[in-house]
Amino acid sequence: MSSILDRIKSPIENELKEFKPYFKELMHSKTRLLNFIINYSLKTKGKQMRPMLVFLSCKMLGKVSESTMVAASLIELLHTATLIHDDVVDESFYRRGFFSIFALWKAKIAVLTGDYFLAQGLLLSLKKNQTEVLKIVSNAVKEMSEGELEQLEKANRLNITEEDYYTIIRKKTGALISACCEAGAFSSGASVEDVEVLREFGLLIGTAFQIKDDLFDYQKTGLIGKPKYNDIQERKMTLPVIYSFSKASLTERKKITSIFRKRSKSHEDIEKIVEFVKKTGGIDYANDMMYSFHNQAVKLLEKFPNSEAKTSLLLLADYIVKRDK
Ligand code: IPE
Ligand code: IPE
Ligand code: MG
Ligand code: MG
Repeated sequence: MSSILDRIKSPIENELKEFKPYFKELMHSKTRLLNFIINYSLKTKGKQMRPMLVFLSCKMLGKVSESTMVAASLIELLHTATLIHDDVVDESFYRRGFFSIFALWKAKIAVLTGDYFLAQGLLLSLKKNQTEVLKIVSNAVKEMSEGELEQLEKANRLNITEEDYYTIIRKKTGALISACCEAGAFSSGASVEDVEVLREFGLLIGTAFQIKDDLFDYQKTGLIGKPKYNDIQERKMTLPVIYSFSKASLTERKKITSIFRKRSKSHEDIEKIVEFVKKTGGIDYANDMMYSFHNQAVKLLEKFPNSEAKTSLLLLADYIVKRDK
């Protein structure tokens, strides 16, 4: 898998090399505790798929500039901040294969550290006069917060619809990935129409990305650094269960619902739910839908001439649906 990522990165190798110290420099503070946490956070960096999307979207349409670098940094900073906050909201002890900041320093410090990253991002874009980039990204952050709230409100209701689910994931995950492609395209000086196409492309691959993330819950892999069957344990309705509930007979639905509702589920409880979801085609359905979003996204790029950056962007879209972490 990592060789695929290396191949994807090859047309933007120099940009990513420049990005590394630029980003590190931003993540600095004079406060001792904060610096300690920041260093921990830098050590556990993720896939950096969002900066890759910013650079590739830009390079497919034009030249990388300072505004591209600002967009990539701003987005990765805000992404990091939202993950730190997300682990507080989800009471999750693991992130990127390590203990989460929430696990190590508890909620107060995690919330404040996330806020600090957010503020650093805002300051950077102001300092570099990148108001359009700031606008694109701030809109995405607004959507993310709405999505997270809507999820809290609806995702443990057993009558959540498939449409509600898509609305939530478009907001909580699609919006920021969409902002990567939009801001990258914008920073290349592309036309308004082309920027819009990239925005839509990002939204579609972002939606596929979250469906994949939700499918991970059913996979026997420790690679994503969190316990499996997390969503089921937390009574969070994701696409596989939503579909399976909609297809089950009334008696079966009643039976599984009462297990799903339990606050603390035994190993057997979980097994029963997973069995039910598999048997009723929930996994296959979610997989099909993920590919359908992916295919719609790929079609949007047909109008652009072939280039190394375009090939990488398409490979990255593939990686999103095939990845194992
Ligand atoms: C995780 O995103 C959060 C979701 C939107 C599901 P990534 O999987 O891109 O996180 P890192 O940055 O690689 O850890
Ligand atoms: C990730 O959402 C955070 C956002 C998209 C804002 P989840 O809670 O669904 O994802 P993980 O599995 O913890 O990364
Ligand atoms: Mg969450
Ligand atoms: Mg979470």
